[in-house]
Amino acid sequence: MIALGAARASAASRPSAADASHTPFATAQREAAAFQGGHVELRLDRRAKSLGQEGFVIRALDGGYRVEAAGEPGLLYGVYALERHRASGTLPKEGEKIEETPFYSLRMLDHWDNLDGTIERGYAGRSLWRWDELPDSVSPRYGEYARRNAMAGINGAVLNNVNASPKILDSSYLSKVAAIADALRPYAVRVYLSVNFASPILLGGLPTADPADREVAKWWKRKCDEIYRLIPDFGGFLVKANSEGQPGPCDFGRTHAEGANMLARALSRHGGKVIWRAFVYSPSDADRAKQAYLEFQPLDGRFDSNVIVQVKNGPIDFQPREPFSPLFGAMPATPQAVEFQITQEYLGHSNHLAFLAPMWEEFFSHVDPSSLTGAAGVSNVGDCANMTSHPLAAANWYAFGRLAWDPRLTSRRIVEEWLPMNIAGYADMPRSVRDGLEEMMLQSREAVVDYMMPLGLHHIFAFGHHYGPEPWCEVEGARADWLPKYYHRADSAGLGFDRSARGSDAVGQYPEPYRSLYGDMSRCPENLLLWFHHVPWNHRMRSGSTLWDELCRAYQRGCDRVERMQRQWAAAKPYVDPELFTDVEGRLMIQARDAQWWKDACLLYFGQFSGMPLPDDVAPPVHTLEEMMRVKLPISNFECPTREMLNSVR
Ligand code: GCU
Repeated sequence: MIALGAARASAASRPSAADASHTPFATAQREAAAFQGGHVELRLDRRAKSLGQEGFVIRALDGGYRVEAAGEPGLLYGVYALERHRASGTLPKEGEKIEETPFYSLRMLDHWDNLDGTIERGYAGRSLWRWDELPDSVSPRYGEYARRNAMAGINGAVLNNVNASPKILDSSYLSKVAAIADALRPYAVRVYLSVNFASPILLGGLPTADPADREVAKWWKRKCDEIYRLIPDFGGFLVKANSEGQPGPCDFGRTHAEGANMLARALSRHGGKVIWRAFVYSPSDADRAKQAYLEFQPLDGRFDSNVIVQVKNGPIDFQPREPFSPLFGAMPATPQAVEFQITQEYLGHSNHLAFLAPMWEEFFSHVDPSSLTGAAGVSNVGDCANMTSHPLAAANWYAFGRLAWDPRLTSRRIVEEWLPMNIAGYADMPRSVRDGLEEMMLQSREAVVDYMMPLGLHHIFAFGHHYGPEPWCEVEGARADWLPKYYHRADSAGLGFDRSARGSDAVGQYPEPYRSLYGDMSRCPENLLLWFHHVPWNHRMRSGSTLWDELCRAYQRGCDRVERMQRQWAAAKPYVDPELFTDVEGRLMIQARDAQWWKDACLLYFGQFSGMPLPDDVAPPVHTLEEMMRVKLPISNFECPTREMLNSVR
């Protein structure tokens, strides 16, 4: 074993760690010294191979703790675990130990940040990365950001949008990327970049980006060599190809595998990875939910070993509730990572509280975590003061990291960790208030599902910005599968998309038992019913009520749940910081009004087709359908509507 001082010396002698004060080891030392719960000794034992570079053991000793690890990142994660246990009152007692290794080695935050400082689907201000100041000036916020990643267990960051500007690979930008990498390294966070597949043309001036062209392959090799000279621990490339207008290998008659492998070969001698997204849906006739599977499943086994195929959790696009994507498990010879969306593109942006751990826990209850090699989360981080705008949305950043570290964790456990660490005064609250806050967090995602898209409804959002309801939406010239009617298919017969064997047969892409379960209207889980079936309005649900009555009650329940969340938050008022209190209170007010807006818009609109009255236990609408249909929010894809804006349009 190496004692503390010796470990420091060995870290300093590492060729890549030019400055010993900027290593995970030095960070762990600083964090250990600041620990409030007792003395912490760090021990780096490079022989403890079973822990890997990131695992740790914490032993409770007389009056303090010893963190043991085989790698510097492991020490850091161990100290943060101590802090987590201290805050939630679960520190080990003398003689006890805690031992952890991460489930996935790839635990990555994907930023959709543009080089002009905007963030696609970002609702927490502008990009953290100040490209115009870099590399000379390095914001201290990069370190703050990296620390929060490390505390959650996140070890990678893709700095730029998947709709990637080729400029990111220009030498002038690479030196800026290197400066960010230097700032993240002390927290064991590696940098990755999204790349534009046509970069050899757009940046390199070549006539083609065909992956089979030797000059193209050489161009990428040279680019990778240049990157690794600047950033020796660079993680690799994330690629969105042949999707939503982005270039890709199919433009040159090549497959996704051929495109990915060409990049993989340029990266492999440096140890880098290609993370190739499976988010594709060509404008064909096929059900959009089937397209990623149709395009990718036949390529199973054709990807090089340093390629990971990254698949969104559901088959469409981060809806409030989706079934798992059938691509999971369908490519056993291909490493896969799941992509979650932390930023709330479809969940009320940063106005609504939607704690997402329950959604991700639900995913892992259907997809065997051990069939995956990593997890990525589309970041909700921006440059506003608290980095996530909604103060409680920081819990989603944390929850993503924790589930990527251990996908078997429960949402409740994550909330029990997050609240005491992040809400000052939490420890002084009476048990009933703490229970209320836990429940508020844990119920919030289901509340959103209920007031937006219950029973498997999906994608009935306002066009473009995806905030608010527009089940009636029509946009001349827009692709059918960008419009709500494609998804809800409301008519006088019923509601929902028939994906059974009689319909689009998307159910046919699922393995058993899901194929039979989802494909049978009488057995399909009701929270996914309208995803898989076109259901008659008077269909008897398991409760005995009709589909229509149940739909109405779901919208009502969503509104009621938000009111309950408001009461639960109000009960915390005497104990929390007044500024935090008012901020969350204000957002919950918006959320309550938005829930009403969703309920009125959807029930008034769908009621035209059902022709049925609201059940007695559902409150009548407060708006008219005409009022709802007049709402047009003047926001872009990187803005969250303000309260003033919402008040003025409703
Ligand atoms: C969604 C989102 C886009 C994003 C895309 C993607 O469609 O609306 O802004 O670019 O997903 O994941 O690539």
